[in-house]
Amino acid sequence: MQNETNLFTPNQLQGIELRNRIIRSATWEGMADAEGQVTGRLVEIYRQLAEGGVGLIISGLANVVPEGNAFPGCLGLFKDQQVEGIRQLAEAVHDAGGKLCLQLGHGGGQCSSKSAGTQPVAPSAIKVEQYPEEPRQLSQDEIGETVVAYAAAAKRARQAGCDAVQLHAAHGYLINEFLSPHTNQRTDQYGGDIDGRSRFLLEIVSAIQEAVGKNFPLLVKLNGSDNLEAGLQIDESSVVAKKLDAAGVAALEISGGTPASGDQVPVRRAHESGDEMAYNVVLSRTIRQQVRCPVIAVGGIRSLHVMTGLLRTGQADYISLSRPLVREPDLVNKLQNKQSEKATCISCNGCLKAALKGNFRCILDD
Ligand SMILES: Cc1cc2nc3c(=O)[nH]c(=O)nc-3n(C[C@H](O)[C@H](O)[C@H](O)COP(=O)(O)O)c2cc1C
Repeated sequence: MQNETNLFTPNQLQGIELRNRIIRSATWEGMADAEGQVTGRLVEIYRQLAEGGVGLIISGLANVVPEGNAFPGCLGLFKDQQVEGIRQLAEAVHDAGGKLCLQLGHGGGQCSSKSAGTQPVAPSAIKVEQYPEEPRQLSQDEIGETVVAYAAAAKRARQAGCDAVQLHAAHGYLINEFLSPHTNQRTDQYGGDIDGRSRFLLEIVSAIQEAVGKNFPLLVKLNGSDNLEAGLQIDESSVVAKKLDAAGVAALEISGGTPASGDQVPVRRAHESGDEMAYNVVLSRTIRQQVRCPVIAVGGIRSLHVMTGLLRTGQADYISLSRPLVREPDLVNKLQNKQSEKATCISCNGCLKAALKGNFRCILDD
């Protein structure tokens, strides 16, 4: 049973010692170099975040293959030369008492020919709203190669000294596209019912476990719902969550939405969420009731009151924050030292726009 003090109580997440239950949710900073390599600016951001007290830092999305690149300045972990930079990130975080989880991903149909250097790939060759252009359907051989690429990237993350990896299976990226009936209209074993549509994800999980061992923590960020009429819904995401739990994942971070989800996108502005905090929590608490592994709540969580309430009422085991830590990297220390009760982030998405322009920061005081 959680209580208020648990937010700042040291704990173990599948063997990793965390100093509290607050997590920096994966945040693409757009600051890797053209080769997907870590830069000095990135190391400084991670050092600052760790010094600010957050328990676990989930990195911005790192591509497992170059063709999975959706955004400029995205990290990559598809070749051995990229390990050294990630090692520097891990060391900076460890020096400041934090832990680092590398997020692994593939932009799938959300890539463009320009970002990926080739026609984007997806489970099915369907032009849908969230895709910039019509993708090409992955062949079964290519699916197998992509699974291998995820496992190789996880192995590199472990070699680099990361404490965990997280699969980005949410927000309309490649794995989410396989899960969603809206974007996966395959007729082979990777499509059809939810058993077929989750096969790609489950194959990645098992390949990673084989590559790094079952004791190396593997987290998954999953959409509880795509918030799209034809997309993944909570009944099917619950099935996926139970399969992942049975496979031994360390934790599930439950998000919602894709870029095509109107005002129910993953990164909602204040007026879209109606200033409602914790806008995905109806999804995370439903899934939490069905799994044994810890569940992480993310999306619009801003105040100490809401964070402790989510833990106390058993709606989540960990609290994940993205935008508030862009504005206040030391927010966790301030909350713990009672210098603050609430993040000053106003959920304007200025940080996202700034990252797209190659200058990631909170723009509120500009
Ligand atoms: C600048 C920016 C970059 C993001 N990059 C990622 C990412 O790489 N991977 C991911 O899973 N989510 C990413 N997100 C989404 C966040 O992890 C989080 O799910 C979302 O912002 C809601 O949390 P918040 O209200 O605390 O910001 C990003 C969000 C922002 C603002």
